[in-house]
Amino acid sequence: MAKIPLHFILNGEERAEFVDSGATLLRLLRDKTGDLTAKSGCLQGTCGTCTVLVDGAPRLSCITLAEDCDGADVETVAGLAAHGQLHPLQHAVMEHFAAQCGFCTPGMLMAAKALFLTNPRPSREDVVEALSGNICRCTGYEPIIQAVLSAAQVMSASGPGAA
Ligand code: FES
Ligand code: FES
Repeated sequence: MAKIPLHFILNGEERAEFVDSGATLLRLLRDKTGDLTAKSGCLQGTCGTCTVLVDGAPRLSCITLAEDCDGADVETVAGLAAHGQLHPLQHAVMEHFAAQCGFCTPGMLMAAKALFLTNPRPSREDVVEALSGNICRCTGYEPIIQAVLSAAQVMSASGPGAA
């Protein structure tokens, strides 16, 4: 099978990899880059646990072709913490006990980060809508919603660019 060369940015670092034609972004991340944070769940685009950002927009990596990400800026939850500091979303998840098994958490946090990029002060309804494609079997969702709202408050208080 033909190998396709890709150049892309992953969490701020330039990467170059070869992928099989038809390989998904999820497989590229997990098999080639060593970043295992995007989870392999339904693999059908219905659970959200594989959510990453591609050029700032949330994408389900299990149904995104890797070859469509040539030249893209890809962000996973592995890139959320910066300079040795957890992201406010990560702090909020701990404070609100918003993760149990944690399988949904990376996708939830990337969906929340995507929301903040377009809507830094979301309402509860905005958060519910933004996370509506992400399934959690453990928490009942309320702690996750509260964590995202709390992180939004913290980031708003920190000023523009905190996302
Ligand atoms: S693993 Fe991608 S949406 Fe479920
Ligand atoms: S914390 Fe287990 S699936 Fe959400």
